[in-house]
Amino acid sequence: MDKPVKASNTPYVTPVEAGKSYYWCACGRSKKQPLCDGSHAGTGFTPLKYDAKETKSVDFCGCKQTKTPPLCDKSACSTS
Ligand code: FES
Repeated sequence: MDKPVKASNTPYVTPVEAGKSYYWCACGRSKKQPLCDGSHAGTGFTPLKYDAKETKSVDFCGCKQTKTPPLCDKSACSTS
């Protein structure tokens, strides 16, 4: 498996709705960041499902190097 592409140097602050599921792009190739658009085909990566427990904004990782996917852990992006 290749390394993921760094889609952004900052997290994607994204509103989510309680009870809905979101598919975070793990490969970094999606044109619909931070969510999967199917561009991972053939890369060995698959999206990671995030089930929103409450309605709020979450920081989805943009650099794709977080240790706590799909959420930003501030370890490898410019917010660190
Ligand atoms: S497009 Fe990146 S995981 Fe689907």
